[in-house]
Amino acid sequence: MSPPAGRAVLDGGRAAWAEAARPGYERSAVGPRMACYRPLGGGEEQTFAQAVAAGLGRGRGGEKSLSPRFFYDDRGSELFERICELPEYYLTRLEAGLLERAAPEIAEIAGPGARLVELGSGSSCKTRLILDALARARGGIEYVPIDVSDTLARSCACLLDDYPGLRVTGVIDTYQGGLEFAGDAGGGARTLIAFLGSSIGNLDGGAARDLLRRVRRAMRGGGDAFLAGMDLVKDRGILERAYDDSRGVTAQFNLNVLRRINRELGGEFDPAKFAHVAAFNESERRVEMRLRSLEDQAVAVRGLGITVELSRGETIHTESSHKYDLPQIRGMMAGAGLSVRRVWSDPRGHYALVLCSAAP
Ligand code: AVI
Repeated sequence: MSPPAGRAVLDGGRAAWAEAARPGYERSAVGPRMACYRPLGGGEEQTFAQAVAAGLGRGRGGEKSLSPRFFYDDRGSELFERICELPEYYLTRLEAGLLERAAPEIAEIAGPGARLVELGSGSSCKTRLILDALARARGGIEYVPIDVSDTLARSCACLLDDYPGLRVTGVIDTYQGGLEFAGDAGGGARTLIAFLGSSIGNLDGGAARDLLRRVRRAMRGGGDAFLAGMDLVKDRGILERAYDDSRGVTAQFNLNVLRRINRELGGEFDPAKFAHVAAFNESERRVEMRLRSLEDQAVAVRGLGITVELSRGETIHTESSHKYDLPQIRGMMAGAGLSVRRVWSDPRGHYALVLCSAAP
């Protein structure tokens, strides 16, 4: 009997759903242990051109803005990798240390033959710490990275060499689309959904709550778990230095979005006419990044047929990075039907790794 389309196929107790067709998705790359899916028609997400027209076309009355998801072209992804190695950007190092500590326990909770679903997989470095632990717990592993970036297939290909028992089903889609994809599949395997790097912090309150509810919906049995890396509120100086480093890498990362507009949309921005600004907004508990115009200027974006008018001192909001405390985290999770089962934190309480299960 042939398997129903879009469903997991249990093969000797192991989900072998990489071969299954998925309605609404095209399979863009397939190897013997890897398949990649992307939504037909490109999904519902606003394109770069639409977002730039909407965010920078704004006149007086509203702050101009660009979504942080547009930072990550090839150059932006490279700069982000460099940020993660900066002495001031403590997040990556603290999370890696916590993951190392937590991995054996996480692997035990997930059990053998678990499925790892990762939101925003990026370069998959952190993933290896979890995969190592899952591999030690034996049994095949399904890895389901979800990322809007096309680099997903490339970064996962090296994982296959290093983990012989691994099967990869990449989903090149938004978190929302990818979670639905993952929630519909997976057969009987226990699922661990991971959202690392404090990427949840780049979502505003409503969007973060919505995402957590979708995570909860994608969890099925009581054995499924959700692992989130979350940056904690701390001294303003530490926070601001992490987003405005002494080598200027974060400034380049921020300014790169203007270069991307120039390259992809025929923009005429001169990055030298903008300053990178990162400030901790204490009442909103978030570090906000902006580009400040150093002079009055009118910049054409030929591909969009618009001219962006900026006065001296005017800002473009490019990113918010929310910071949390533990009671707030418990509240957010509870609001989405998740209960915090375990928290790992560093001795100074600067960062937290939070493991949740479905609330009873
Ligand atoms: C990806 N994200 C969690 C990073 C952050 O800390 O908000 C992006 C970043 N922006 C500036 N530095 C790093």
